[in-house]
Amino acid sequence: MEAVKGGFPSHYTLPVGMYELRCALAEHIHERTGLAIDPSRNVIVTPGSDSGLLFAMMPFLEAGDEVLVPDPSYPSNYLNCKLLGAKAVHVPTWYDDNYRIHIEELEKRVTPHTKMVLLTHPNNPTTVVYRKDNLEELARFIVRHDLVLVCDQAFEDHIFDGIEFVSPCTLPGMWERTVTVCSLSKGYGLSGYRMAYLYADDHIMDVFYGGAVNVLGAPCTASTFGAIAALKDKTILPEYYERLDRRRRLAYEILGSAPGVKMRMSESGILSWLDVSALGTSQEVADYLMEHAKIMVNQGTPYGEQGAGFIRIVTACFAKDEDAVQRFERIKAAFTELARQKGLIT
Ligand SMILES: Cc1ncc(COP(=O)(O)O)c(C=O)c1O
Repeated sequence: MEAVKGGFPSHYTLPVGMYELRCALAEHIHERTGLAIDPSRNVIVTPGSDSGLLFAMMPFLEAGDEVLVPDPSYPSNYLNCKLLGAKAVHVPTWYDDNYRIHIEELEKRVTPHTKMVLLTHPNNPTTVVYRKDNLEELARFIVRHDLVLVCDQAFEDHIFDGIEFVSPCTLPGMWERTVTVCSLSKGYGLSGYRMAYLYADDHIMDVFYGGAVNVLGAPCTASTFGAIAALKDKTILPEYYERLDRRRRLAYEILGSAPGVKMRMSESGILSWLDVSALGTSQEVADYLMEHAKIMVNQGTPYGEQGAGFIRIVTACFAKDEDAVQRFERIKAAFTELARQKGLIT
């Protein structure tokens, strides 16, 4: 508010982001990963991480290139490849082993055209936080095939149950071939500010600096001041984190006990991911909830072939727990009725 009153936000900031914000981000990255990155070289502010993801991919891909994408995954991963004339190659992962990445599935799909792996970590929609040993295997695969990793860490700020979070760029051989894309949208609840950032090695940054002015323009100056304030004073975050933690437990308790539903407790963020295949297709179940519970959920299919039979629920939709609980109960009642119709219960 002080910055807005002072009038400065009506002017451009640097295309790569204001230096003071990049310093605050470098500190944040250091706290999270232990990396000591140079704020004047290795971090760029982007207007949200959706545009950051496309920006991160652009220098590396040409028409006909192939990109390996663990499936299920954030839909932008598939769409961004298409926008760049490249091909997203889906690599299946499975609910039963908590969506571990199987290196043999990646190996089967590597061709001379393969240039990149796109990883959403923690994953949207599954909420899975990939474990260190799995990421180490993935890193060895990426180095062996001389690929680039673009790692979307939009949900890295809310990881539950003390699960260790490893940023793949910190693994051996990965710093020089990884672009890490992050956001203040989820972790700080500031999606409307459109404040995100990416960080990478110097030689990658040279190309990004070249493209920043004509592709990104410059980040919003007013939001920049808001982001600096948010990064400097994190006192409200523990309460926010606790609320999200409570919310995923409530969702698990209520929705997980519905007949015909299989789900795990979310490992991160604001989502629940439900296997409803016993009740119908993703579309049938989503349509049924819309009609009978008057609640819109996401079908699993846009997240990839492995999303068939799943739905995604944004459990953080409401400010108050009781409002969310009321909706979870309504969804559960609709599931119960569907299960009755399917003959799963009497
Ligand atoms: C996994 C993931 N990455 C990136 C984004 C983009 O977020 P933003 O553009 O607000 O930073 C989202 C938004 O839902 C997301 O779920």
